[in-house]
Amino acid sequence: MEKIKTDRFISFEGIDYSGKTTQIDLLKSFLEGRGFNVFVIREPGGTAISEKIRQLLLDKKNFKMYERAELFLYSAARVQLVVEKIIPMLKKDFFVIADRYVDSTTAYQGYGRRIDLKVIKQINKAATFDIMPNITFYLEIKPGRAYERRNDSAKQTDRLEAAGLEFYKRVFNGYKKISQKNKSFYVLDAEQSVETIHKQILNIITPKIMD
Ligand code: TMP
Repeated sequence: MEKIKTDRFISFEGIDYSGKTTQIDLLKSFLEGRGFNVFVIREPGGTAISEKIRQLLLDKKNFKMYERAELFLYSAARVQLVVEKIIPMLKKDFFVIADRYVDSTTAYQGYGRRIDLKVIKQINKAATFDIMPNITFYLEIKPGRAYERRNDSAKQTDRLEAAGLEFYKRVFNGYKKISQKNKSFYVLDAEQSVETIHKQILNIITPKIMD
């Protein structure tokens, strides 16, 4: 595959209820205010096929899904997204902001579901054609605190939610490990105010987009 410029590719990570979506909206508005085109994607989803896969993945009725089947489904949804959206948008010089990307697979399927990390690494590479974000913002919140932020309807919605606190603790520790290995992975305290986190994101991003 031809070389794709990824300097405008940004991803957000965090366990559920870390406040990613709010920060993505704020960053999008900021960048658009500066005259940039911005495209936001949410994983799993973002293409017709990926949205169908999302329904399969998040449906609580599919509790019999084997861990590796889950891994392949997330990755299949990602292949569609990379080819149909991420690559074309980067080629058009858009900022692409991803609400979750490969680090979610490493944290949830690798550390959470305990699938061999070597397998995860290979599949992540294959599913993305090695298109990796320039910057990743990780909104860190302890699983217990994230649980407190959920509303009642969320407590029974999808299959992953049903996985329980122990699962989320492994995911949390997984993100910690990822942050220790990756220089472009910025850890932000998700319990700070929305404005403070947004300012921290801008402080990191502004020098990079001035280049
Ligand atoms: P969200 O749209 O609310 O972020 O929900 C997506 C869920 O899917 C969330 O619980 C994290 C999970 N997930 C994985 O387990 N692996 C992945 O690779 C991705 C992208 C998401």
